[in-house]
Amino acid sequence: LGGCETGSDPDSDPNRVPDPEHRLGLRFPDGFGWGAATSAYQIEGAAKDDGRGESVWDTFSHTPGRTRGGDTGDVAADHYHRYEADLDLMRELGLRTYRFSISWSRIQADGTGAPNQRGLDFYRRLVDGLLARDIAPMATLFHWDLPQSLQDGGGWESRDVAYRFADYADHVFRALGENVPVWLTINEPKTVVQNGYLHGHHAPGHRDPGAAYLVAHHLQLAHGLAVAALRATGNSSRIGPALNLHPCYPAVEGAEAAAATRLYDGYENRLYLDSIFKGSYPTDVLDDLGPQSRMVRAIHDGDLKIISAPVDLLAVQYYTPIYVTPGGGTEHKWPTSEANWQQIYPDGMYDILTRVHREYGDLPLTITENGLPTPDTLNGDTVDDPGRIAFLRDHMAAAHRAIRDGVPLESYHVWSLMDNFEWAEGYDQRWGLIYVDYPTQRRVLKRSAHWYRRVIADNGV
Ligand code: NOJ
Repeated sequence: LGGCETGSDPDSDPNRVPDPEHRLGLRFPDGFGWGAATSAYQIEGAAKDDGRGESVWDTFSHTPGRTRGGDTGDVAADHYHRYEADLDLMRELGLRTYRFSISWSRIQADGTGAPNQRGLDFYRRLVDGLLARDIAPMATLFHWDLPQSLQDGGGWESRDVAYRFADYADHVFRALGENVPVWLTINEPKTVVQNGYLHGHHAPGHRDPGAAYLVAHHLQLAHGLAVAALRATGNSSRIGPALNLHPCYPAVEGAEAAAATRLYDGYENRLYLDSIFKGSYPTDVLDDLGPQSRMVRAIHDGDLKIISAPVDLLAVQYYTPIYVTPGGGTEHKWPTSEANWQQIYPDGMYDILTRVHREYGDLPLTITENGLPTPDTLNGDTVDDPGRIAFLRDHMAAAHRAIRDGVPLESYHVWSLMDNFEWAEGYDQRWGLIYVDYPTQRRVLKRSAHWYRRVIADNGV
């Protein structure tokens, strides 16, 4: 083309390969929290180290047929032993915030009693390592790995587990104190309800709708009790729930699809949001469950007051929209990622952020997860993942639009910092910015990680 490019509109060239790194010229507010997220069972490994007890995910992943290829989190990304090197990689990326979770069974092997100092020490070292590198720690108290002993006593079907959770949280708050500026209570309660108790493809692997919504109530109760536990310590750190929200749209026009979508939204979003932010469960969902349902019968006087204790922020995890048919089924409208449940639709991010801001009050929001799996392969020293770059860029642009329209979004965490154990999918799906070569545990920054480093440095896309 030698010197002839001026004046030609690159977007009008039909043969042009879209450049995922194409700059959009969007700057984020000063001090915006660029981050990445992980969870304990998915990366730590070291399943028997330092007095860690067994969790439901140890049991589940070791049960034949439960995970792809029989994969388990026994070793995972071996982060428990390699956290110093991983902290250096976070520093290299320039992360401002890092979201991780604490394994309950490292702190209380059986889910009750005196805390295990060696477990607490691991997280203290991790938090100190973050602070030393100027990265703000954000800790999730529960990311699905319930101590197996508590499961043996009924798990989340037992109201008492909510009180055990608050007790565990209290130990963690006292040990880590204000070095953790933001706490998240329960990661995606809805996933425990739906995957753990409705469809059964996550631990504990039950298929029991009555139990599922009983569990939903106890998870919400546990959230509220943990908020109270933090306040009782006098600790000035902030705390909030981490909810995976799904914007629900009717698949077709018409009153039937609209009504079905409304109820679907109740189960996906309002069940969790209304209880925390309005102090009531949505009546359409309660009516649908019925007065004799185990959940409705388990709601004690005062529970909603506990659940709706004021929080400091709302953490949103956005992956996909849902399209609801007139009969209450679902349909896909957009391209699907390697995860068959995920449709790629960045505007859904804008819709859900603006909606929670509009309907649930003017409190700070953070995106604690957003990302996608891609078929990444190691090629010498490089991993080329343009699909991830395009996905993140487009979702960041949607988040930017929400900020411009008044949403107080303060940070954004990519799921995930590194490849990890994707639950029932095992190690097959790779969600990381950093490639993990499992046989050697070598880490390689993917092209998306190099790209993200520039986003952070530029504070924009
Ligand atoms: C949400 C979960 O919190 C996380 O554990 C999981 O790996 C991602 N979604 C991707 O499915």
